This record gives sequence, C-alpha cells and structure tokens, in this order.
Amino acid sequence: MLKRLHHVRFKVKDLAQLKEFALDFGLIPVEETSERLVMRALGGDTGVYIAEQAEQDGLVGFAFEVENRDDLDFAVNELGATAVAELDLPCGGHYVTLIDPDGNQVDLIHGVARIPEGELEAELLINTPANKVRFGKNQTTRNFGPARLWRIGHIGIFVKSYAASSAWYSEKLGLIGSDVYNIPGQPQAKIVGFHRMNRGNEYVDHHVVALMQDERGGCHHISFEVLDYEAQLVTHSYLQAKEYESIWGVGRHPHGSHVFDVWRSPDGARFETFSDTDLFREEDGTNYHDISTVVMDKWSTEPPDKYFI
Ligand SMILES: [Fe+2]
Repeated sequence: MLKRLHHVRFKVKDLAQLKEFALDFGLIPVEETSERLVMRALGGDTGVYIAEQAEQDGLVGFAFEVENRDDLDFAVNELGATAVAELDLPCGGHYVTLIDPDGNQVDLIHGVARIPEGELEAELLINTPANKVRFGKNQTTRNFGPARLWRIGHIGIFVKSYAASSAWYSEKLGLIGSDVYNIPGQPQAKIVGFHRMNRGNEYVDHHVVALMQDERGGCHHISFEVLDYEAQLVTHSYLQAKEYESIWGVGRHPHGSHVFDVWRSPDGARFETFSDTDLFREEDGTNYHDISTVVMDKWSTEPPDKYFI
C-alpha cells in the first residue's frame, strides 16, 4: 500500500548550478557535500529532491513511502525487489528497490523520519461580485521570491512503451490510470497516462506518476505543490526576473484540473509548481481520450512547443 511519493533522485553534472536554480525555485538544502545535495520542501519530509554528482545528467529514480514495514517484505518476496536495506538519507528508514521497464529505480521506503511542518503563505480572502468576505483590511501580501513548496506531488517520465510501463506500475505498485490518451483514431494505441495511487476509499491526487511514450526515456518533469495559483503567479514572475527558461504556464490542465507552471532546470529536467489538483478514489475508475481531442491548457490556445523538447 503506497502512502505517497517521497522523493526523486537525479544524477547531475553541475551540482552548484543546480543548487542555485533549486534555491530560486523554493527548495531548501538539508545536506550538501561535493557528492550529493539533498533538499526539502515545507511539508515535513526531510528530503524530496536528491541530486548526486555524476558525469552525465539524468534520472536515477524515485521513492514511494509505503504504509507498513510488511510492504517491504512483500515487495522482496512477491515483486522481485532487492533485499531490505538501510536508507542512506537524512530521513533514515529502510528501502527496497524495483527496476521499472525503462531502468528507473523505484524505491519503496518505510520508517522515515519527519520534521515539523513549515508555514505556507496566509490564505487569501477573496472578494467576488456576489460574495464579500474581506472587510476593512488589505489583501494578504505575498513575498516576491522563491516559492513556498509544500511537497513533491508527482513525476512525469518518458517511457519506451506505454503499454509495458502502465502494466508494470499497475501490477507492481497498484497504480490506477485516471486519464489515458491514445494516438488519434487508434483507441488501442495508448501513449500517455496519468496514474494515481490506489488507497481504496481514500481520495488521492489525480496522478502521482505520468507516463509518456517517448524513446528518450528519463524524466519529463517533477512537480511540487504550492498553496494556490497566486503563489504560482508570483513564483513565475520571480523566476522570469531571474531569467530562467519558462516552458509552459501558468495554465490549467483539463484532466487533474491542477494549475501548472513548468520551468527548465540547468540539468535539462523540468520543474513544475502545481495547485488545486483533482482527487479520486479507487472506484472513480479510468477515463480514456483520443489525444487529438485534448486541449492541454484551459487558459490558452498556445501549443506547448517547449514542453516535450
Ligand atoms: Fe505535472
């Protein structure tokens, strides 16, 4: 039983440059050596983003926290995971590793430490034409600067075969497709899927892993939750002022409904903020769409030219 996506791990050529970007994006350093950078958000995890010094940039893998210690043994005995070992991260705990069809390390972890949660911005009190709720005071101001990131919410990966990867994530981790897209006119040829955890009657994010069929493999994007879309607009302006490369957004996806804002990181990966995502349960099933019918941003008609480059 998966509890949540806990952290992502990358190989990075230039750790110093990556750190500068990650700080501007809103991540907070936890551990920094010449070999490794561990950064956290504000939601209580002791590390959500790990960059390891390497000759080449690339995705290493990602880790899900599981509900029970027994889940690790189950993964070893029934799913072919590596033996249970101690996790060499500030969060401590134990892990096992599965390798997905594209060679990504998918760790299952348990017993990790948490720290006190940090503070997000104050919620806005918004006066609408029909509903006034803020009287005799100013709107809460938002600081111009890095985002206040709460947690890592999802990762999008390029996969060589959507059919093979979606089957693997379903069989090994129990992930459920929320919205799945097929090639125009070919309902059987599915190429993109947004997959959520199966926690029974508990509502979970529309997706925790997005699978996109593309020969390149590796990471498409990692996404961090923030309070609301005003926070995203402020962060967007801040990153723009710092002259980073905006890839897509701020916009709103049709499926999952979340507001998104995607930026290029120096290692060529993409970092995203999101807010206001849809929630679904196991019984809410899967919706299928011809990709030619999907308008990927409800707030614009601009094609996301840089999204897949
Ligand atoms: Fe995303």
